[in-house]
This record gives sequence, C-alpha cells and structure tokens, in this order.
Amino acid sequence: MGPSLHRREALRQFAAFLLASPLLAAVDKPELTNSTKLANVFDFRDLARDLIDPVAFDYMDEGGKDEVSLKENRLAFRRIILRPRFLTDVHKIDVSTELLGSEMDSPVYLCPAGGKNCFRPGGEEETARGAALANSMYISNGGVEDYLASGEGPEHWWQYTTGGQFRTGDTMLDFVERLEDSGCTGICFTVDNMLVSHRERSVHNGLVRTWCNLGEIPRDQDGNLVYKPNDSTWVTGEYPSRLFPTPTWETVKQLRDMTDLKIMLKGLMIGEDVEKAVEVGADTVVVSNHGARQLDHTGSTIEALPECVEAAGGKIPVLVDGGFRRGTDILKALAIGATAVGIARPYLWGMTCYGREGVARVLELLKTELALDMGMSGVARIADIHPSLVRWRNWSYEGGLQP
Ligand SMILES: Cc1cc2nc3c(=O)[nH]c(=O)nc-3n(C[C@H](O)[C@H](O)[C@H](O)COP(=O)(O)O)c2cc1C
Repeated sequence: MGPSLHRREALRQFAAFLLASPLLAAVDKPELTNSTKLANVFDFRDLARDLIDPVAFDYMDEGGKDEVSLKENRLAFRRIILRPRFLTDVHKIDVSTELLGSEMDSPVYLCPAGGKNCFRPGGEEETARGAALANSMYISNGGVEDYLASGEGPEHWWQYTTGGQFRTGDTMLDFVERLEDSGCTGICFTVDNMLVSHRERSVHNGLVRTWCNLGEIPRDQDGNLVYKPNDSTWVTGEYPSRLFPTPTWETVKQLRDMTDLKIMLKGLMIGEDVEKAVEVGADTVVVSNHGARQLDHTGSTIEALPECVEAAGGKIPVLVDGGFRRGTDILKALAIGATAVGIARPYLWGMTCYGREGVARVLELLKTELALDMGMSGVARIADIHPSLVRWRNWSYEGGLQP
C-alpha cells in the first residue's frame, strides 16, 4: 500500500471512529459547525478527497471527455455581475420559498447522484436523512424505499429514473403505482443520459462502474485494484447502442396520462425542449447538463437558463443545477428566473466526510451564504429577487479571466 493510501486509511478510520463514538454529539458537531477548516463547501471537497479512494473521488469529480463544460459550469458565473441596492431594510432575511405548492426552507435541493455507496457505506440513506435533517427536497436514486416510507424521511422527495421502467405500458404502470402508494412527490425523469458518455478519468483508472453501486473500490493489501472474472472496465472505442428504443416525448405524454404524480424533466438545455415539456404537461423542468458528465461542449447551465426561463413563460417553474457552490451563484440563478437550484457534488463531499450531518451542514452553509448575499444586495425575501439584480458582461473565456 502506497503512503497516500496509508494516510487515507488512517483518515478514514479516524472519521469512522468519530462517527461511531458516543462522543459524537460532543466531538462531531463543533467540528462541523465551528471549524475554521470547513468554512465553505470547497473545504468539504478537500477533506473528501483525502478520505476516499482516488478512483472513487475521480468518479465523483469528473466530467465527460475534455471537461470543457465542467469548467464552464463554474466559470460562467463570472460573466454575471450583481447589481446591489442599498438602504433597503434587510434586518430580517427570509430564504424560504415555494415550489409547486410546497413550502421549502430554502431554494436549494439535492440532485440525484448514482454511486453514493463508494463515497460512504449506506450513502443513499445518509443523503436522504441529511435532506430530512435540513428539511430539503431530495431526489432518490433508489434503494431507500423503506426509510422513505417510514414517515421520518424528507417531506418532499422525488424518484429518479432514466426511463428504464417506461419500456412497456405495464412496466410504466407498475412503476407509477408503486410510487403513488409510497408518498413520493413526483417522478424525476432524467433525459440526458440515454447513452453514457466517456468519462476518461474513470476510463484511465480502470473503474468498473458497478463498484460504485455496490460499495468500496476493491483493492488488495498492496493497494492494487482487484478485478473479478466478469468485471468490465469502462472503455472507449465501443460503438454506442441500446437494446431497446429510448424514450421520446410520446413516452412523457403516456406517463402524464397515467398519473397525477408531479413530473420533472431533468437535463434540458434549450428553450425548444422546454416549450415541448410545457406542451406535454410536465410540472417542472431542470436546466442541467448532468454536472457536465454527459455531452461535453454544452456551455454552462447558467448560460442556458435565460432561454429556458423565457420558453417556460411562467407556466411551469424552471429549476437549474450545475456548478452551484456559493450563495452568489444561487442568487444569480434566482434573479435570472430559476425557482430553485440543485446541487450534487457539494452534498456528496459533505456526505463523504460526515454522512447525513455533512449533507445538512453543506445545505446550511449554502443557505446562510445566500441569506447574507441577499442582504448585502438589498433583498430580504426570495420574492424580491428581480432580474435587475444581475447584468451580463462581455467576456470570452480566452480573455484572461481564470477560474
Ligand atoms: C457522482 C455523480 C453521480 C450522478 N448521478 C446522476 C444520476 O444518477 N442521475 C442524474 O440525473 N444525474 C446524476 N448526476 C448529475 C446531478 O444530478 C446533477 O445534475 C449535477 O451533478 C449537478 O451539478 P454539480 O455536481 O456541479 O452540483 C450525478 C452527478 C454526480 C456528481
């Protein structure tokens, strides 16, 4: 085992000791809430990187191909300038908001993310419990149905699908009926991963994708990856194909006719598709490029947001995710017209380090940053955030501004 693996193992054991310790309440909370080390979400990233296997970290961190969109998801926030107003009363700031008739404590919610178990054992349930702690909306990747049905789970939770259950009318009905009985808010249908992109960090790492569904990255005592006979690594150079026809707008219409559950279409990037979503009766859309993990060169989601908001025309709420790390990022999206903002990697960093409490703390950090940034911009309530709060500047990525 190399020195960095030894160090990681020691850190992992220390984190496991803290979490298992009866001193947890005494030790863990001050570390999370008063630490000068965990002052923003990026600090959780640094800690997460030290704690987990580098192959798992790359899987979480990477984007598709050249990772151009991955960088742009962050960079593009620099194209937007805030226009603060002063001498308004901001002694009480309220970041609560409403989404599809439900009250939300803050406009930030947890996006679906696969592979949580290789960041931390039981990662999906820790995430769901973190959402409940923080009273945030959660989109489930599945496997935590018992917890969600227990009544202790988050009030607003959606079930994610890529449409595998929509192959026939019967399988769609079965899926819908199970969800209707489960207290689920709605179905999050992700439309941008009918084919899976090449994520070349994982290709080079020799990742077997099922590792991240099942649990830890398997290594022998010398630190070498351990493969089973039927393991297939993620490779390039294989012609893309799927065994069955992929879902279409017709599929969404069929789903709409079948259920009153809310339908969220996640992964749209252009106004034309948002118009279609409104036409087929979707309740909401998420402007998303899958955390830049799918098609590269889509541009950032914040740049796609204005045309999508315009296309929705106020008929349905528009959500957005991709690269949101700061209160100002969230504020900009709300000013452009988003109703809520999703995060994935930041809560995965928190969850990797501290389980449910890490998830809740990351949400709290973003919520408090948003409140502070709202106050400093002269807006005390979400409803007061207006398009005039932002202005786009002329700027090219080659122009010398670095991330
Ligand atoms: C490790 C990981 C796994 C993901 N898995 C899924 C998934 O199963 N389904 C999905 O719709 N999106 C998935 N996403 C994308 C997120 O839902 C979200 O769109 C995006 O990551 C948000 O950007 P951010 O990570 O920069 O906050 C995943 C993202 C990450 C980082």
